[in-house]
Amino acid sequence: MEIEEIGSGFSRQVIAWASAPDVVFKFARWPNFNLSEYCFWQSRKDTEVAAHLAPCVDITADGYVLTMKRTTPLKAAGITLPDWLLLAEPHSRLSRQQVEELGLHYELMPYDIKPENLSIFNGRIVLHDYASSTAPLLFHELSR
Ligand SMILES: Nc1ncnc2c1ncn2[C@@H]1O[C@H](COP(=O)(O)OP(=O)(O)OP(=O)(O)O)[C@@H](O)[C@H]1O
Ligand SMILES: [Mg+2]
Repeated sequence: MEIEEIGSGFSRQVIAWASAPDVVFKFARWPNFNLSEYCFWQSRKDTEVAAHLAPCVDITADGYVLTMKRTTPLKAAGITLPDWLLLAEPHSRLSRQQVEELGLHYELMPYDIKPENLSIFNGRIVLHDYASSTAPLLFHELSR
């Protein structure tokens, strides 16, 4: 089919379009998650954190549709994850050591790090869902 839903979560439906195979379109139920994801990407795209994020490409002015590079979700890649990641609750409280053991940057500690939000992109583990609008506040709190 030309257009296909390849995933969905609490706040978004993720759509692939055969004519643009390198990207996905995230259709939001509320625009704030897309907007915070896009803003985080814009603020980190020229830093070392960018290598640990699925890149954002574009966003509509109202925030309802975000275009992001298409990645291979970990569940499709068949990667074995450590038991502590599968058991951890809430995921946003992983330690810096655990976050780095996954190959992610410690600045992503307060984000929603769970198997469903991780992918492979350019041979690395990346976060394809970094839309949490509370994460920047938590990072400030955790790094004090
Ligand atoms: N860039 C991407 N490339 C390929 N698949 C993706 C991408 N982003 C998301 N997906 C797929 O779509 C699903 C839902 O996306 P996402 O986690 O961004 O939605 P969400 O509504 O923010 O989720 P949550 O329920 O965690 O809040 C993911 O679990 C993944 O399978
Ligand atoms: Mg998600």
